Amino acid sequence: MDLSDEQWLASWRSEQKPQPEGWSFSDLETRMTETPVPWDIDLVYRTALADATSVLDMGTGGGEFLLTFANSLPRDTVATEGWAPNVLAARRNLQAVGVDVVEYSAPDEDVDSLPMPFPDDRFDLVLNRHESYSPRELARVIAPGGGS
Ligand SMILES: C[S@@+](CC[C@H](N)C(=O)[O-])C[C@H]1O[C@@H](n2cnc3c(N)ncnc32)[C@H](O)[C@@H]1O
Repeated sequence: MDLSDEQWLASWRSEQKPQPEGWSFSDLETRMTETPVPWDIDLVYRTALADATSVLDMGTGGGEFLLTFANSLPRDTVATEGWAPNVLAARRNLQAVGVDVVEYSAPDEDVDSLPMPFPDDRFDLVLNRHESYSPRELARVIAPGGGS
């Protein structure tokens, strides 16, 4: 689009509003382009979920993305979320599919400073799209032979 700097600024300012809760960008769907990536995250998730019996989704946002896999989730699926508005949104969205939402996030400045609120070897699959994590804690909560 051939806009002047002022027109670009005006159009960006008209979009400024408080961050909506959750983590869905469906409002932008028809106005957004994304650079293609060389992997298929849906296929990666579905393949991993096929064998999973206990799953953790870290930093689930409002749970919108996890919900797209609702038919593939084992009964024992738990999510974490650390941003207060999204803890509420995730609980509301995920309760219908029986996923508990635990309030937790690893502090960005020191991911090892807050242990994950789960016992050793708790999960055989940990999903994480765009959330900070402690590799040490991840290794602790994944059961031997499990994955992330
Ligand atoms: C990038 S989001 C990804 C959510 C989800 N895993 C997904 O793939 O759709 C990662 C984390 O950032 C959190 N987050 C989003 N906005 C935030 C904000 N303004 N301050 C702090 N955390 C925020 C989300 O709630 C979520 O836990």
